[in-house]
Amino acid sequence: MASITIRNLDGSIKEKLRLRAAAHGRSMEEEVRLVLGELGNAVSIETSATSTTIHAPGALSGRRILLIIGAGIAAYKCLDLIRRLRERGAQVRPVLTKAAEEFVTPLAVGALAADKVFTELFSREDEHDVGHIRLSREADLIVVAPATADLMAKMATGLANDLASAILLATDKRVLIAPAMNPRMWNHPATRRNRAVLQKDGIRFVGPNKGEMAESGESGDGRMAEPLEIVGAIEKLLDRRPKPLAGKTIVMTSGPTHEPIDPVRYIANRSSGKQGHAIAAALARLGATVRLVSGPVTIPDPEDVAVIHVSTAREMRDAVEQLLPADAAIMVAAVADWRTANEAGEKIKKKPGEKAPALQMIENPDILAGVGHSKSRPRLVVGFAAETQDLLANAKRKLDKKGADWIVANDVSHATGVMGGDRNAVRIVTRSGVEEWPDMSKEEVAERLAAKIAAALQTVEV
Ligand code: CTP
Repeated sequence: MASITIRNLDGSIKEKLRLRAAAHGRSMEEEVRLVLGELGNAVSIETSATSTTIHAPGALSGRRILLIIGAGIAAYKCLDLIRRLRERGAQVRPVLTKAAEEFVTPLAVGALAADKVFTELFSREDEHDVGHIRLSREADLIVVAPATADLMAKMATGLANDLASAILLATDKRVLIAPAMNPRMWNHPATRRNRAVLQKDGIRFVGPNKGEMAESGESGDGRMAEPLEIVGAIEKLLDRRPKPLAGKTIVMTSGPTHEPIDPVRYIANRSSGKQGHAIAAALARLGATVRLVSGPVTIPDPEDVAVIHVSTAREMRDAVEQLLPADAAIMVAAVADWRTANEAGEKIKKKPGEKAPALQMIENPDILAGVGHSKSRPRLVVGFAAETQDLLANAKRKLDKKGADWIVANDVSHATGVMGGDRNAVRIVTRSGVEEWPDMSKEEVAERLAAKIAAALQTVEV
């Protein structure tokens, strides 16, 4: 169980938390609870007259991580990484390469890890006491950070001439590496070859990121992932949470569609894709195989989700049809109801004295209705209803019109800020009634909806 007392947080973190909470219109306690909640932890809050303490079960509680620290300037970040891992309940056993000792001292690493630091392949004491085989056997995961070009080359060719490389060759455990090197080294054909070999061997990567290098004036791909990103990747690999949607396939749509007027102009809407993408990620976290058809959005693809990018409603319909059959279809996209009947092949030009062109519109296919009434209808079909008036009456009508089991209705009037915003207040309309959910972040809506979908797909039909 990890505890956070906001009063005791580092000044700069407290400041960042204060700004983040203010930006979202929440209290600092609420913000921390949400951040922890997003990590998937059940949290409890203890408030006294002088402080607020938030308790979260250590996400990595009892997990054993063998951390191999390579020789790079990024090695200093490993000190923070060790701290973050231990905060989450992990045991960290550090191994330093000889050259890494030039960047961080065994004393600092050992003090933070609260464990012995291993450095020698031929240490009489270590080999007798632990040995490289036992070091690997006693770990749940091996993490190499920073993974230098040299360490990656050794791993790819199977060299074992020091403790770190001998462990990596002798292990049957999963290995996660956080590469860090100069961009020219990262892009060198030799490193590219080694990367491909390691990926094929099942080695997992986190980073590197783009950014400034330690060498002045250098930037590009090669910065080691930040400690919290590495922690995130570790948590994902060691995730023991139940996967109630394992084996289930879910087809989704998200984002707007763009309907061209001519090669440079199009009709669109304000959908950002945030809600749909968050639902796709939440379903994937519960173990579902999620196939997402996304309209044009500026947000990144959700993690662990196969995404097909489309532009128009017709492309979206075709992609969805290709993905059926599935166990569920969750149609969140704000599909344009109409497209122009006469898309111009060339840019429409203004002509002096002529009136503005009149756009003639025709109806787009209704993708949700197509799925809801199709022969290969998934067991659960969920639609969204973005309304600006008569929310419930319109949503109820859509249940039948679209052949959906649930309609998630939300008020998208301009004043609500839902379209493009980070929060949402929804109602789940089913044939047996209406569930009203309070205003919450789109991530929370996604988590709750994913849990509800998991429960629905687990009920046995008789
Ligand atoms: N939808 C769809 N294809 C369309 C239009 C809508 O798949 N051509 C889906 C949306 O993804 C959403 C649901 O239908 O899940 C309802 O969308 P909405 O725009 O609210 O409904 P419409 O049928 O377009 O009704 P109206 O615009 O008249 O309210």
